[in-house]
Amino acid sequence: MSSALYSGGAPSSDMSATVQVVPQGFEVSGTEDLHYAFKFASGVFDLSQSVLHDCYEKWGRVLAVMDANVEGLYGAQVRAYFEHHKISCMIHVMPGGEMHKTMTTMLSLVDAFDKFGLIRKEPVLVIGGGLVTDVTGYACASYRRSSNFIRVPTTLIGLIDAAVSIKVGINHGKLKNRLGAYHAPMLTVLDFNFLRTLAENQIRNGFAELIKISSVMDTQLWADMVKYGPQLVATAFGRRSAPMGQTIDGGWEGTKNGCSHVISPSEVSLGELAEIADSICYRGIKIMLELETPNLHEIMLDRVIAFGHTWSPTLELTPVVPLRHGHAIMIDMAFSATLAWKRGYITAEEREELHKLAHDVGLSLDHEVFNENLLEAGTAAILKTRDGKQRFAVPRPIGSCFFINDATTSELASALATHKEIVGASFPDLAATSGVGKDAYVDSQDLGMEPSLLLAPASMKVLDTYRGENGTLVDGNVVLQCGC
Ligand SMILES: NC(=O)c1ccc[n+]([C@@H]2O[C@H](COP(=O)([O-])OP(=O)(O)OC[C@H]3O[C@@H](n4cnc5c(N)ncnc54)[C@H](O)[C@@H]3O)[C@@H](O)[C@H]2O)c1
Ligand SMILES: [Zn+2]
Repeated sequence: MSSALYSGGAPSSDMSATVQVVPQGFEVSGTEDLHYAFKFASGVFDLSQSVLHDCYEKWGRVLAVMDANVEGLYGAQVRAYFEHHKISCMIHVMPGGEMHKTMTTMLSLVDAFDKFGLIRKEPVLVIGGGLVTDVTGYACASYRRSSNFIRVPTTLIGLIDAAVSIKVGINHGKLKNRLGAYHAPMLTVLDFNFLRTLAENQIRNGFAELIKISSVMDTQLWADMVKYGPQLVATAFGRRSAPMGQTIDGGWEGTKNGCSHVISPSEVSLGELAEIADSICYRGIKIMLELETPNLHEIMLDRVIAFGHTWSPTLELTPVVPLRHGHAIMIDMAFSATLAWKRGYITAEEREELHKLAHDVGLSLDHEVFNENLLEAGTAAILKTRDGKQRFAVPRPIGSCFFINDATTSELASALATHKEIVGASFPDLAATSGVGKDAYVDSQDLGMEPSLLLAPASMKVLDTYRGENGTLVDGNVVLQCGC
């Protein structure tokens, strides 16, 4: 990467065009010159780390944005880092949670930029999960029509998904990510050590996106996911010995579907697991970039990364308390695997392996609201975003992707019935929850409010982002897109 990019001297994108005289008018055509970089760093706020010092030395100051959780965990370390490097640091704490992924929050960032006196080209530093990087990125896309920013993702979703893309945005009305932009940061610093403080339910949530990318793109990556998946989730990708900080006989106590699960110390050491995790994430990010960078504005609609994202946008928001994104896409992927198997695209063993991995990490495979009606509504909604074609991404075989365009309603209904039978027979421990895994629903941190309020009719007005006034999904508008 050029030092100009590091120091904020170069814009991440530049556009130029030429004008031509044509009959009765003019025509302008041009191209966008785009440069943005990803830098892997371990302990980005360790005093000895130079990446962010190099970025901000020229400015002598930095405006950092985080949510309250991240500020509580890392604020002091961030301040100490910049203080050590004689760079003055102001931290703006924005409200977290999906209910605050709004224009109001975005405008509060604009006010913070003004108050700081942000200079043209001076990059804002955003440290946090996908929500915080999305909102701040959108504020930067809009501020003075385009401002620089640098991202430090701190969640698994952020590290392997949200901060890999150049999409930024906010929710509006009843629709997720309805307003946004394609706005590349100058630099994204990827430090997987942040995962050591991330709750297991958030790790599991992000793990589903790694299941997605590996199962339809890379057999070796998929094999590693299958081999190490449960240990990766239980140890926050090799970053902590156990969720409760307990170790047993040198092994780790993690959770496996809610049950205490002791991983044998002979399996692999924590340090080795961290290396395996980094290698898995590196390959996942590389695949994402290779898939998405030729299609940055998402013009091409046959998208491999849409595996698991066909019915899940509808499914995710159908229960009164929404499902976590990772659980919703996992149910979609698990069903898609059953559909692919019924068509002869994958073997029974491949289908079983995918289902078993989901189960063993505590992800969901089915849900009582995942019924024929939902399949129909989800299909109708997704057709609107896919130019009228189904483009159902499925593995064919595992490690490669195929797009189904000719599924009939009766085929989907039959596959669904088979799927429910398979899940019931294979995972009797999930019978009581109809296939729902562990910590499957959003909590107050994800929402920015108590989920129990979702059950109270009086609160419906503040829940606009999620539900219609009668508590059901708003018909015709069920184009609820995730950030993927
Ligand atoms: N732009 C994209 O392409 C894209 C892709 C995927 C998701 N997204 C968006 O990202 C959001 C979801 O991302 P997310 O799951 O990272 O959400 P998030 O930013 O809300 O983070 C989840 C929770 O983890 C906490 N947290 C963050 N880092 C932590 C750490 N290191 N230790 C402990 N707690 C920590 C946060 O405070 C929050 O409570 C959604 O809004 C989604 O639309 C965008
Ligand atoms: Zn997704």
